[in-house]
Amino acid sequence: MRSFDAEVVDTDRLYGSTHILWFRPRPLMDRARPGQFAMAYCGEGADPLLGRAMSVHRLREGRDGREFSFLFDVTGRGTEWLSRRRAGDSVRLVGPLGRGFEPRARVQRMLLVGGGIGVAPLVWLADELAAEGREVTLVLGGRGEPQIFPPHLLPPAVEVVVTTEDGSLGERGRVTAPFERLLPWCDQAFACGPDPMFEALYRVARDSGLRKPVQGLLEARMACGVGICYSCAVFPRRGGVKLVCTDGPMFDLRDLY
Ligand code: FES
Repeated sequence: MRSFDAEVVDTDRLYGSTHILWFRPRPLMDRARPGQFAMAYCGEGADPLLGRAMSVHRLREGRDGREFSFLFDVTGRGTEWLSRRRAGDSVRLVGPLGRGFEPRARVQRMLLVGGGIGVAPLVWLADELAAEGREVTLVLGGRGEPQIFPPHLLPPAVEVVVTTEDGSLGERGRVTAPFERLLPWCDQAFACGPDPMFEALYRVARDSGLRKPVQGLLEARMACGVGICYSCAVFPRRGGVKLVCTDGPMFDLRDLY
C-alpha cells in the first residue's frame, strides 16, 4: 500500500450518471485483487477533500501495460470532481487496500449479485472467473434501466440476469428473486450493493438451508481507509466490531448477520 499520483488516460460517462476513469499502469496496482480498493483524494489546491474509497472496477491491456479503472456515480463533491478529470490529469491514490473476494479453488458455478453501483468490483471478478473457465452468472439490479451496467460490455461467456424495480429492463423486482432461484445452482456467491440488499440476501441464503457461502463486499463511508479513524466500523450481530477498510471490505455474510 502506497500513495501515488495516477495519471488518467481515458474517461467516459458509461451509462446513466455512471462514469469510468481509466488510469495509466502502475506496478503497485498489479498486485490488486478483485474486491480491493484505493482511496482517491479529490480536489486540489487549498480545498482537498477527504478520500473516497473506490473499488477497482476492471483492468485492460494498454500501450504501456495493464491499465486499471474506477466506475462511480456522481454523489457529491468528490465524485463530481473525479467526473471532471480528463486524460493527462492526475489523481492521488493510496492502495491497493483491504481484503478482496476469495473465490474457492476447484468450484465451477459462480453467482455474482450487484445492486446499483455495487456492480463496479463484480465486473473485474466476472472477467477473471470467466477467463479461468468457470461458469458465471451475474445478476444486475437497479431502480431502473439507467442504473444497469450495459451487459454487452461483459465477457460473452457471462450469463446476465437483469432486474429493475420499475420494470424498465429485465424482470420487475429486486435481485433477491433471481438470487433465490439461482442459489441451488451455484457453488459460491458474491455480492456488492447497499446494506439492505446484503441483509435480504443473507436471509434468503439462511432460509434456503443450503449453506452456500456468500461473500459480500461492503460499501462504507471511509475517511482514512487504513484502520485509524473508525468511521467504517460495523457491528456484527453476534457482537464485536469490524472495520470495513481493514477487516473487509469482503465479509462472509454469516459473520455479519
Ligand atoms: S476508514 Fe478509517 S478506520 Fe476504516
